[in-house]
Amino acid sequence: MHSSLLLSSLLGLASAATTSSTFTTRQWTPQDPGSIPRHSGSRGFRLRVNVTDPSLDLTPPVHNLFLSTAHIGPAQNRAVIGSSGPIFYQNGSYADIASHRAGILTDAGPAESPFPEALQYQQGTDDIKGSELFISVGTPGAGTAISRLTSPYSTLRILEGAPIVSSFIVCGNATIPYYGDSRKFDVVNWLQATRDATGTHLRVPEGCVAANLVPECAYEFGDLPEGAAYDRTFVNDVRCYESVGAIDWTKYAY
Ligand SMILES: *[C@@H]1O[C@H](CO)[C@@H](O)[C@H](O)[C@H]1NC(C)=O
Ligand SMILES: *[C@@H]1O[C@H](CO)[C@@H](O)[C@H](O)[C@H]1NC(C)=O
Ligand SMILES: *[C@@H]1O[C@H](CO)[C@@H](O)[C@H](O)[C@H]1NC(C)=O
Repeated sequence: MHSSLLLSSLLGLASAATTSSTFTTRQWTPQDPGSIPRHSGSRGFRLRVNVTDPSLDLTPPVHNLFLSTAHIGPAQNRAVIGSSGPIFYQNGSYADIASHRAGILTDAGPAESPFPEALQYQQGTDDIKGSELFISVGTPGAGTAISRLTSPYSTLRILEGAPIVSSFIVCGNATIPYYGDSRKFDVVNWLQATRDATGTHLRVPEGCVAANLVPECAYEFGDLPEGAAYDRTFVNDVRCYESVGAIDWTKYAY
């Protein structure tokens, strides 16, 4: 029933009109601040799930919960949804950001000797459910970034600017091999749209829901301990919201 969503709703361009098939693009420019939610800037942020069509939310609901981690091996985690989540940050030079080579990282390990883990993705075994997200040691997934100021809303993106529609999806009651079959998780995947005769559609699989991951400012994000093996030199401010759950999206038109 909820097998496809229109391009317009995915891009958040017609947020209040997800059932309409007419698709009018309103132009937004960064000089137009009253038309977007109030935002701030911070180096650290948590990522909150924003189910773009609340009527399709899972049972139990995942709207407004956090991007979190489920340990699956040494310094390796599957991205899942939880009632709290780690503080992320965007690391990269301006050149890295321009070429989609910045990374979304989080600090892991003991407080006195932390190490960075990066948001990564890889094609899952279930083709229909797209790429699985991980938060693990190693190279950041290509194109993982917080959207730029030219986009009306600040959200996590993968390969922003690529000419294809994509969305994160949260799939309920999923198993993770490390935990066996009895434990269930809400896992996070990344799905690219397919084209058919009627246009470009994101086919959200049964038991999953399309969602944006929206940065909520985490000002308590601090410096690394003396002697850490990496530093904060290339950590940028990102556009984030004070309280994602408090935003009344119906007031904004994009
Ligand atoms: C958040 O979800 C609401 C629906 O509850 C939607 O109107 C809005 O466009 C979404 N915003 C983002 C940035 O995903
Ligand atoms: C952050 O980005 C800089 C610049 O590309 C890079 O040298 C550094 O290794 C990155 N830090 C981490 C923890 O990946
Ligand atoms: C998950 O399983 C529970 C219990 O069987 C069920 O009530 C719920 O609807 C399921 N949710 C999803 C998203 O499949």
